[in-house]
Amino acid sequence: MIKTICVCGAGTMGSGIAQVIASNNINVIQFDVNENMLEKSKTSIENNLQKLVEKGRLQQAQKNDTLQRIAFISSIKNCVGELIIEAVVEDKLIKQNLFDELAEINTDAAIFATNTSSISITALSSGKKYASRFAGLHFFNPAPLMKLVEIIRTEHTTEEVTDTLKKFTEQLGKTAVVCNDAPGFIVNRVARHYYLEAMRLVESGIADVKTIDTIMEATGFKMGPFKLMDLIGLDVNYAVSNIVWNELGRPERLEPSRLQKAKVDANELGKKSGKGFYEY
Ligand SMILES: NC(=O)c1ccc[n+]([C@@H]2O[C@H](COP(=O)([O-])OP(=O)(O)OC[C@H]3O[C@@H](n4cnc5c(N)ncnc54)[C@H](O)[C@@H]3O)[C@@H](O)[C@H]2O)c1
Repeated sequence: MIKTICVCGAGTMGSGIAQVIASNNINVIQFDVNENMLEKSKTSIENNLQKLVEKGRLQQAQKNDTLQRIAFISSIKNCVGELIIEAVVEDKLIKQNLFDELAEINTDAAIFATNTSSISITALSSGKKYASRFAGLHFFNPAPLMKLVEIIRTEHTTEEVTDTLKKFTEQLGKTAVVCNDAPGFIVNRVARHYYLEAMRLVESGIADVKTIDTIMEATGFKMGPFKLMDLIGLDVNYAVSNIVWNELGRPERLEPSRLQKAKVDANELGKKSGKGFYEY
């Protein structure tokens, strides 16, 4: 059983993943280069746990214990563990550089997992000494609530590593689905149309944001596409659209939206910036 885990990145996903791990009685190191993000993550986890206390689903002592299990750090030197889960910005070069740095300070047994939504797992690891112990470990947003975790293996990922990640995911009370590396994996490939077609409807004046969200929710989707994009972060969602589109040879049906690009350029990133398709 894995006992020492480091989560790199304390943004939307890194924070949620650290909360899930700590809530399952496992110590976790949360690393981010930005002190402000570490503070925000701590506050967000504390607030989430407090809500559970208020609902009677967690005791005050359990809340305190869970928080105690997370070490918030801004120096990579302490980012050492049996499992490293990377959840930093959706940028291939930044992720590659980070894994190379992590390889210098971790043992040759450490498992490296990336929470990327769309960057090729093969491209992140091929030719690296850690390729056989490298995989995608894709949590969904919000990580404490969403049950599904995609485990993405490359042709170099050993079966032992895939099995260890599957057991770890199940230990967190999540449902693991193993798939091979491909653009967008499973969920982000299928879901791309949910976002892109909805934005096309708005761009062509057929319906507005609120109407589309209302209708999609009425048909059974938990969140309409625009509310979901605001939750994900428009910058993240736009980056994923670009990567999937490029990797599949730029098909017209997957072309990223100009409407979304304009929002990202205006720093309207959704919930995290206070404004996206909606205001918060
Ligand atoms: N937002 C979602 O809904 C969602 C869902 C699943 C997967 N993902 C993926 O998870 C990853 C993180 O996404 P997010 O939404 O949490 O992003 P975010 O923008 O909320 O957070 C990214 C964090 O990475 C930190 N960071 C940047 N460079 C770093 C470095 N070199 N070392 C350590 N920390 C660094 C930033 O300070 C920031 O706190 C991305 O790969 C994204 O595609 C996102």
